[in-house]
Amino acid sequence: MKKYIFGNWKMYLDHKESIDLANVLSKKIKKNDTYEVAVFPSLLSFLEVSTKLNNKVNIGAQNCAWVSKGAYTGEVSAHILADVGCKYVLVGHSERRHIFGETNELVRKKLEAVLDAGLIPVLCIGETQADRDEDKIQYRLKKQLMKALEGIDINAENIIFAYEPVWAIGTGTPCLPADADDIHGWLKLEIKNYIKGEAKILYGGSVNVDNATSYLDYEMIDGLLVGGASVKSDDFLKILDIEYKK
Ligand code: PGA
Repeated sequence: MKKYIFGNWKMYLDHKESIDLANVLSKKIKKNDTYEVAVFPSLLSFLEVSTKLNNKVNIGAQNCAWVSKGAYTGEVSAHILADVGCKYVLVGHSERRHIFGETNELVRKKLEAVLDAGLIPVLCIGETQADRDEDKIQYRLKKQLMKALEGIDINAENIIFAYEPVWAIGTGTPCLPADADDIHGWLKLEIKNYIKGEAKILYGGSVNVDNATSYLDYEMIDGLLVGGASVKSDDFLKILDIEYKK
């Protein structure tokens, strides 16, 4: 089974650094049957990164508006993203939920906007450390899934999930692979309440070059959503099993 390796560049790179990274990736990565690779650059660099990647690596957006068009200063819609070759859109990333106050209701609207534009949402869910301490992991994940998916008419081909425990993102403390595998197994059953087919679920949160393969060995883990380690070309290529010397 093909695994998914997605790189969320967040706001880590300036324009030139984004183009340089795209150049390296497009030279080194070939379409293959082992991995589906996608990167999520800043919107400003989106078009130029996309041109450099030249279809060898898929491209996604880190966010989008919940409406398709209109007087929404500062927003970019999923329809506009679809026009410029975008394939995936992150929806409900924990930084959007926690720093920008995105509610489950807004996440649902964005999910619908992405689907409406014919793009594939990467729906991010995850519990906080407080949820964990209060034994509310399943409660939090169930609620996020229910609010995002209840009544939706899609099958598993049209969506990807990312399990990203908030306490593991950018902290250097990842969820242990065996624990992530257990949660993914439980999530796959839970998601069957809403969508047809077997959900694909990526793990994200402090994935790095040393721990990446230990996740990919697990059956319930369909791939990785990599943040910090995805903006270092040699680390990201090593995660993809490609040796790279500068
Ligand atoms: P991280 O981020 O790999 O830097 O922990 C993951 C993410 O936010 O998607």
